Amino acid sequence: MDQTFYITTPIYYVNDKPHIGHAYTTLACDAMARFKRLDGYRVHFLTGTDEHGQKVEKAAADAGLAPQDFTDQVSQNFRDLAVAMNFSNDDFIRTTEARHVTATQAIWRRLLAAGHIYLGKYAGWYSVRDEAFFTENEITDGKAPSGAPVEWVEEPSYFFDLSKWQEPLLEFYAANPDFIRPESRRNEVISFVKGGLRDLSVSRTSFKWGIEVPDDDQHIMYVWLDALTNYITAAGFPETDSESYQTWWPADLHMVGKDILRFHAVYWPAFLMAAGLAPPKRVFAHGWWTNEGEKISKSLGNVIDPYQLIETYGLEQTRYFLLREVPFGNDGDFSVRSMVHRMNGDLANDLGNLAQRVLSFVAKHAGGAVPAPGDLTQPDHAMLAAAEGLLARLRYHYDAQAFHRALEETWEVVGAANRYVDEQAPWTLRKTDPARMATVLYTLMETLRHLAILTQPVMPTAMGQMLDQLGVDAVARDFTALGAAGALAAGTALPAPAGIFPRFVEG
Ligand code: MSP
Repeated sequence: MDQTFYITTPIYYVNDKPHIGHAYTTLACDAMARFKRLDGYRVHFLTGTDEHGQKVEKAAADAGLAPQDFTDQVSQNFRDLAVAMNFSNDDFIRTTEARHVTATQAIWRRLLAAGHIYLGKYAGWYSVRDEAFFTENEITDGKAPSGAPVEWVEEPSYFFDLSKWQEPLLEFYAANPDFIRPESRRNEVISFVKGGLRDLSVSRTSFKWGIEVPDDDQHIMYVWLDALTNYITAAGFPETDSESYQTWWPADLHMVGKDILRFHAVYWPAFLMAAGLAPPKRVFAHGWWTNEGEKISKSLGNVIDPYQLIETYGLEQTRYFLLREVPFGNDGDFSVRSMVHRMNGDLANDLGNLAQRVLSFVAKHAGGAVPAPGDLTQPDHAMLAAAEGLLARLRYHYDAQAFHRALEETWEVVGAANRYVDEQAPWTLRKTDPARMATVLYTLMETLRHLAILTQPVMPTAMGQMLDQLGVDAVARDFTALGAAGALAAGTALPAPAGIFPRFVEG
């Protein structure tokens, strides 16, 4: 049977237009999904929009629109972003879709039938911005820990018996040490759970924009129970015997930002265990971006617009920068200086120049076709071994969601190739030893082929162009083509080379 990989992004609140944070989470999933596909997995990559709750209801009211009309519009912005960023998601879910209402009501019924939901009364603080409840001692100066304003809520409510899940959760974390990544976040979650869990209010009566509680239309479900369920909706729940559910659930990876880890690593596995369903295999929490050292916020007016980045620096450059600049999992800072530095250094100089030098030399001095190599010398073997050895190392880094490490290691090979070209000096060999020149060029083209195939997950379009220029057939671009299997055939005619990575010129 095929190996499968189910990966999800958080579903985005439709209260706002997409910004860098949304683009970042989905980009990381996209690179992961593309890597797995190239590595032979059947992949299901899910993203979508979180459309219920008070926050969205308020945003719709502010826009003077009915919630459904409003969410239709804003959800479309997220689909458009996926196209603009070249995301390869297989499905796009909206929580207002019928399939999702069915799934959410079904999980509710399971929880109720198993005795994990009871009717009570909620009295406490609620933050609409966080869509979360807080106790008195979590409130400082009238604000939630996130700094969001809170309001006092007192109303009938159904509760989920979260307090009973402390031990099962701790056991689950202990038995699945990789469930929460990175490690520092895992420790935070464990100490939070050790601190004790209170039953969780899972329904509201004071507004209407949500999924109705089955058999009690006074209540709508708490937006996080609704939202988290999207991950099983898309897998085919409640049809747990379906081929789809059997294939995709449990998910391999939920990618989330650090701010929403608790919902995914505490509430979600508790809901699932209580409903008799398997928890996901991993939740990875990434860090947050700042802009030139400042926290990003609407009030500061420094929100980074992904479209602006694409227009200014290029899509491939933006994708590369976001995944290369910051160790994945840490917070990171966007600055024009670092963006330009990556774009001109790593891309234009190191990789772009290498490809351009080699390919234009082949076009001019090797008849515009793949040169025929002679016997390989030790430096050629070493160069090819470095390129061919990358796959195993990248698998390791991708499996740990260490995208920056994967790129770092790839660029070590780029550096080695630049040293190789300088040392072997094909431009000198042209006069002294044309046969040796052909071998050197062939070695470089093979190295470039490996680099391009392996960097497709991060820069699919640019690497596709590089593979075109190397004369690599469209069907020979996955990881089975690495090594000897897809080696370039001498004599293959090549298209005219063209630069792939322009330098950023201040303008
Ligand atoms: N709707 C919930 C998720 C429900 S999932 C079942 C939600 N939506 S959100 O639109 O507010 O946030 C989506 C993601 O954007 C989160 O993962 C969050 O961490 C991320 N980011 C928001 N601002 C960010 C930065 N400045 N930097 C990086 N990511 C950030 O939460």
